[in-house]
Amino acid sequence: MAILVTGGAGYIGSHTCVELLNAGYEVVVLDNLSNSSEKSLERVKQITSGKEVKFYKGDILDRDILKKILETETIESCIHFAGLKAVGESVSKPWEYYQNNITGTLTLVDEMRKHGCKNIIFSSSATVYGDPAIIPITEECPKGVCTNPYGWSKSMLEQILSDMQHADPEWNVILLRYFNPIGAHKSGLIGENPNGIPNNLMPYITQVAVGKLKELGVFGDDYDTPDGTGVRDYIHVVDLAIGHVKALSKIQEGVGLGIYNLGTGVGYSVLDIVKNFEAATDVKIPYSIKPRRPGDIASCYSDATKAKEELGWVAQYGIKEMCADSWNWQKNNPNGYDD
Ligand code: NAD
Ligand code: UFG
Repeated sequence: MAILVTGGAGYIGSHTCVELLNAGYEVVVLDNLSNSSEKSLERVKQITSGKEVKFYKGDILDRDILKKILETETIESCIHFAGLKAVGESVSKPWEYYQNNITGTLTLVDEMRKHGCKNIIFSSSATVYGDPAIIPITEECPKGVCTNPYGWSKSMLEQILSDMQHADPEWNVILLRYFNPIGAHKSGLIGENPNGIPNNLMPYITQVAVGKLKELGVFGDDYDTPDGTGVRDYIHVVDLAIGHVKALSKIQEGVGLGIYNLGTGVGYSVLDIVKNFEAATDVKIPYSIKPRRPGDIASCYSDATKAKEELGWVAQYGIKEMCADSWNWQKNNPNGYDD
């Protein structure tokens, strides 16, 4: 029996492939490489001393390739990472985001059910909480108003998958709400590889550190937070990957519908991250304060109790390792997977 990992060549997907292979799973990856490189999968093999995923280059919108995979491989569960994720781009290209993320997921789950595979773990996001009503955020916190089509695609897909599970209890659906994944595998062989100028804080910092960008802009210092800058729950990507292996065990028990935050429960401000990065790497990060970024909220961090109690999962890595590992990846691969 194998696990289908859509988007498995990407940032979180490649780290999850490592943890799945190390846990003894057979892994089949489907990725159209729209935001990734097949080289990440070669690196996965290197990290796992020769364990290989089976790779299909293709799109979750393509029924033919989905049929081919589901008929050729014995897929027991799917971990569904494939999706477009650039918040700003989603505002200017809403149709493309809804088509890829929503129609793509509908196509995937339709083929899955036709082939008798009804176990799915879905990559959701803390973005579904909008400006959260409760901090730290528990899973009972009501979903909120999203500020962009990317966020809405996650929120809508949560609803769609939950409704499907409700109508057909043979489905096991786990919605994993990620907080802010950063860091990279200890080997420095796989990591985050954004196209163009990064939107997210950590890749921006590492590109300043490696000399590709001049200085960090800190988006606002007048939030209602201890130092006025935005507070987030940063989580090491390897911890996140391990969370998926734990979620698979839960799926195999027959969970029905499970919703879990994957975060550390600790919030760090933008300036905390700058200071911790400098301390962990000995590299100075010049920065200046800029206006608030539209759509940003002051604070977002999890209550991670439910994942601990029900999945037996607790994040192991602290902020120093997250910073050191992000830097190790960036300095060894200044151009990502490009030579
Ligand atoms: P990523 O872009 O590195 O990985 C996504 C992968 O999906 C890429 O390899 C891309 O080529 C592939 N893909 C996209 N559309 C596809 C399609 N139609 N068919 C086949 N493959 C397709 O992103 P990531 O950071 O690894 O994120 C993985 C998932 O987690 C995404 O669904 C994302 O929305 C979600 N998520 C990410 C974060 C984050 O901060 N990184 C936070 C919350 C949720
Ligand atoms: N920030 C800066 N300068 C930058 C980039 C970010 O000051 O150049 C600040 C932001 O204002 C925010 C914090 O750093 O306060 C984190 O910003 P990110 O863009 O790294 O992350 P977000 O919390 O805005 O969003 C991320 C993903 C979303 C996901 C969300 C929750 O981009 O897709 O985490 O998981 F939904």
